[in-house]
Amino acid sequence: MNKRLLIVSNRLPLTIEKTGNELTCRQSSGGLIAAVSAYLGNDGKDAFTEKIWIGAPGCSSEDWSVASKPHQSDYQYKPVFIEAEQYEAYYNGFSNSLLWPLFHYFPSYAEYQPETFEAYMDVNRSFAEMLSTQIRIGDVVWIHDYHLLPLAGMLRKRFPDLTIGLFLHIPFPAYELFRVIPKTWQRELLTGMLGADLIGFHTMEYAAYFLSALELELKLKSEDSVVFWDDRHVKVEAFPISIDFKNFQEAAEQEAVAAKRQNYLQLKEDKKMLFSVDRLDYTKGIYNRIRAYKNFLLEHPEYMGKIVFTLVIVPSRDGIKTYTDRKSAIDEYIGDLNGTLGTLDWKPIIYQYQHLEFEDLVALYTVCDVALITPMRDGMNLVAKEFVASRTDQQGVLILSEMAGAAKELTEALLINPNDEQGIGAAIKTALNMPAEEQRERMTAMQERIGSYDVNTWAADFFEQLAKVKTLQEKYAVQLLDTFSRARLLNDYAAAKQRLILLDYDGTLVPFASEPHLAQPTPELLSVLEELGRDERNDVYIISGRDGTTLTKWLGHLPVGLIAEHGAKTKLKNAEWTNKTTVPENNYLLGVEKLMTTYVNKCPHSFIEHKEFSLAWHYRKAEPFQAKIRADELYKELVNYTGPLPLDVLNGHKVIEVRNRMINKGMAVLEILKTKNYDHILCLGDDQTDEDMFKILTTVKAACTIKVGDTPSFAHYNIYSPYQVQSLLQTMVEYPEVVKN
Ligand code: UDP
Ligand code: G6P
Repeated sequence: MNKRLLIVSNRLPLTIEKTGNELTCRQSSGGLIAAVSAYLGNDGKDAFTEKIWIGAPGCSSEDWSVASKPHQSDYQYKPVFIEAEQYEAYYNGFSNSLLWPLFHYFPSYAEYQPETFEAYMDVNRSFAEMLSTQIRIGDVVWIHDYHLLPLAGMLRKRFPDLTIGLFLHIPFPAYELFRVIPKTWQRELLTGMLGADLIGFHTMEYAAYFLSALELELKLKSEDSVVFWDDRHVKVEAFPISIDFKNFQEAAEQEAVAAKRQNYLQLKEDKKMLFSVDRLDYTKGIYNRIRAYKNFLLEHPEYMGKIVFTLVIVPSRDGIKTYTDRKSAIDEYIGDLNGTLGTLDWKPIIYQYQHLEFEDLVALYTVCDVALITPMRDGMNLVAKEFVASRTDQQGVLILSEMAGAAKELTEALLINPNDEQGIGAAIKTALNMPAEEQRERMTAMQERIGSYDVNTWAADFFEQLAKVKTLQEKYAVQLLDTFSRARLLNDYAAAKQRLILLDYDGTLVPFASEPHLAQPTPELLSVLEELGRDERNDVYIISGRDGTTLTKWLGHLPVGLIAEHGAKTKLKNAEWTNKTTVPENNYLLGVEKLMTTYVNKCPHSFIEHKEFSLAWHYRKAEPFQAKIRADELYKELVNYTGPLPLDVLNGHKVIEVRNRMINKGMAVLEILKTKNYDHILCLGDDQTDEDMFKILTTVKAACTIKVGDTPSFAHYNIYSPYQVQSLLQTMVEYPEVVKN
């Protein structure tokens, strides 16, 4: 089958530049283009038969058609033309003067202008429009980076089944930074991203920050990095982007590169060479780097004349003042440094403000002694990986900022803090004096690591995970109680003579309330339960974790059976309560209570509920982010404490409960099943404690089990809410009458 991949990024890989009437075309800069182009150049070793790259060419359609024509590639380009003023507000404005600085921890550079947000949304809509004309059934859409965060959501509205991946090439910040964005914009960004099936980040840390933003802003819980949003599972995962490792290794051996290397060796003479190459960007720490270099020279004058720093800066985003200001400061500093410390025959810094050809880049990677890469923040930093890959001689030292995503993988580099100029100086000294054997050991270890996860593995990993989410979505989708299954359930019910109806209470018959005593049954619920219970063919049980007193107060007058505290107590229809268990030994519970109390103190608004046979720690009213961490901690501590004791720890919906072992709803259901031969069993529940019933009933032919909520379950079906449960029960009450007519 024809399987197409549609890559979408703000920038196309070709940049068209116009000087007077002359048009030139070159490869665009930056890690996104470098990585995705490298993957696309992999000679089609993947499942896609056709690849189309969609993006803004940054020039007029006339110029594009003239300049791009001679450029052949393995894939097609589809330009999206955006009106200049709107593009300026979207690109220089919202994308690069708000998202970029904020996501790179430069909040003081962030500008909050509503008109740029409007332009950002409009340009994303234009991309969605353009894509809508291209998308065919079976296509995979892969969206890249912060310029297009709302796009997946926009596409999802038009194409509910489309496979969409999103990859962020920059850091995702901690919530404290993300939250400074105006709330409505935050929501547009987050919900837009959630339109994707898979959202990829460079590191686990960025993925975790994104998940915490979802939890704190949208109250979305995640389980195994999967969230459920708008009826779909969305996976959040880390995929450390990489380079075409083999290409750099081979390039280092090529003649064209060797020739360039000769030129640079002449320039270097017998001096040691430091090298760096970055786009001109305040996040790259260029200014700190040259200051640290100057301090190093002042502190170690013995290196004067014996070292040279080749500093290449690639022009970038020169329509933004923070960038042009930075350029002036760097130019001035270098001029001053060369003027004051240099001599007529030695310049401490050789500076180029221009793009590098690939051969020059690899030649410089392989000529230098030290690569000095000091970003203040960087999503990944591919230059660091390219330097490592190019060193087929296993020599050279990498000095790398710990603020770069790459530092998580390149742990054998000399890691520095970019704000610590002394530390950078010390690392330069260590690097210049590092024995060849140590250089080899460090370089080999780094090469092995990045060589085994190159750009093709990165992309393959992403597509594999994307396929897995689709499978998960499909698996889940068939579990939903659809119209057909609902009708079959109602028919089976209507036809049955001896029915058992097992209903959990909280989260199933009524929605959760902030405090347990507020979740009282409504008159409508009481009336439908009454009607169900009055039917002689029905045995109805409310089977709950609640205490017997509350159940008696709220439901005791109904013609139904009651099971309290997960099966510890039973009250048959029109009978008295009987106990199925004894109170756990007092000293056991005292230990449990003590532990729970420490967590009540640590987690404001959590509280302990004392039941007759158990203790429950509730955290539904507590601040969700903190409560989740505390709940995980308490759960582990309780499991540890109760290990040797005859007690079970139950992880319910925002509640952790401790009670006697072997008391659970499943055992209670088994008891009921022994009493009669039911020809129809319906069982509804919403949380972990109900899974015991679902498990028991999987082997019972007449049973239909339904989980309320959106998480995977042993139940046959899922439905979304107590509201739908009530509507189902109401239809059951009315349904036999319809059949009779
Ligand atoms: N690069 C480039 N033009 C140059 C020099 C370098 O396109 O003149 C490439 C470099 O090889 C690397 C990418 O730009 O692949 C920079 O990626 P990185 O992740 O280091 O930083 P980014 O620019 O994406 O922030
Ligand atoms: C970073 C961004 C890319 C961007 C690149 C170059 O790598 O993550 O999305 O393309 O910088 O920046 P520019 O603004 O020139 O596209």
